[in-house]
Amino acid sequence: MNQYHAKTLKGLEQVLANELRSIGALDVEPVNRGVNFSGSVAMMYKANLYLRTALRVLLPVARFKATDEEMLYRKIKEIDWSQYMSYKNSFAVDAVTFSRVFRNNHFVELRTKDAIVDQFRDNTSLRPAVDLKNAEIRINVHVQETFFTVSLDSSGESLHKRGYRKEMHPATLSEVLASGLVQLTGWKGDQPFINPMCGSGTIAIEAAMIAADIYPGITGRSYGFQQWPDYDQRLFENLLDTMPQPKSLSYPVIATDIDGEAIRITKSNARFLGMDKLLVIEKEDFLDAAAMDVPTLIVMNPPYGERLEVTDIEALYEGIGGVLKHKFPGSNAWLFTANMGAVKFIGLKPEKKFTLYNGQLECRYINYTLFKGSRKQFKGGSV
Ligand SMILES: C[S@@+](CC[C@H](N)C(=O)[O-])C[C@H]1O[C@@H](n2cnc3c(N)ncnc32)[C@H](O)[C@@H]1O
Repeated sequence: MNQYHAKTLKGLEQVLANELRSIGALDVEPVNRGVNFSGSVAMMYKANLYLRTALRVLLPVARFKATDEEMLYRKIKEIDWSQYMSYKNSFAVDAVTFSRVFRNNHFVELRTKDAIVDQFRDNTSLRPAVDLKNAEIRINVHVQETFFTVSLDSSGESLHKRGYRKEMHPATLSEVLASGLVQLTGWKGDQPFINPMCGSGTIAIEAAMIAADIYPGITGRSYGFQQWPDYDQRLFENLLDTMPQPKSLSYPVIATDIDGEAIRITKSNARFLGMDKLLVIEKEDFLDAAAMDVPTLIVMNPPYGERLEVTDIEALYEGIGGVLKHKFPGSNAWLFTANMGAVKFIGLKPEKKFTLYNGQLECRYINYTLFKGSRKQFKGGSV
């Protein structure tokens, strides 16, 4: 049994914790931007294959306190690195610092790298090469004031890179964020799903993956742990072989956009996953959307307005509010945006709100319950 730490985006910790519980992880504990858990090596492989909202799965190998750079260097050198890699492996160090003493991540990365290289050189007179882009072994250093956690990164490349997005819309969301948005709604494929203004289709694709039981590992990408000396290829292949078979959808998942190029990109991304038949992908101006007479879940990420006039963005959000109210009575809508000013023009009363981040940009994820008639009648149950 090992202790692990899965990293995620701020605001998605509970979603990731639920995902971990659902695959059988133990001691699941959400913390800031991550979730601690424990399990076997198989659980760590499984976490990489199955988790939709994890960015990386880390295996902590040392924890210590260091108050200056010399102490950091010494402590890193005390770890027996030959357990985890050989001089033949290329490696890279990623540091994240929340510290008044160690303010500079790059500096922590350099001292850690020096200590590892020097240990190999002292013991074997040969040194591993550093490769920042395609390292075989990735080492993660987390610094909280003077407390260090040194981990092996079992994922290698970030898990948001599922491999299905061959092309991207310029304003695209990360797959991890898109899946988090879908999971925060609680939708599990039990009613129609519409992603208007879909861009590259990331939200719709992640929704269809959830409903069809398709996990990120299906794309066959590689993982950091496959380079580790103790990599158990049979165990990993067995886990791959026993992943669920995709099931058909009970309700449609629909992606629409006004832009023909966005539709072409969405189709090409869905095709890569063999999902182009699962999704309905159509060119449509949402402001002219056809009315939907069955309760539907709508998740949308409209333009924030950087490239639009203020009056145009206000009119667009006002239009979105009107379409939601008049064309989707009885449905549930979620809107993800960084434009808090424009949101007021939606003209509907929010039911719930989450704060999330798209990169550095603070965003709101807002839920509107769309009811027939007035809100008062709806709450009173008379409609
Ligand atoms: C922020 S992007 C969406 C990005 C998307 N979430 C992704 O991950 O790729 C906004 C999209 O809204 C589309 N759009 C703008 N106005 C629209 C309208 N009236 N009807 C439908 N789509 C519209 C744009 O073409 C653009 O693709």
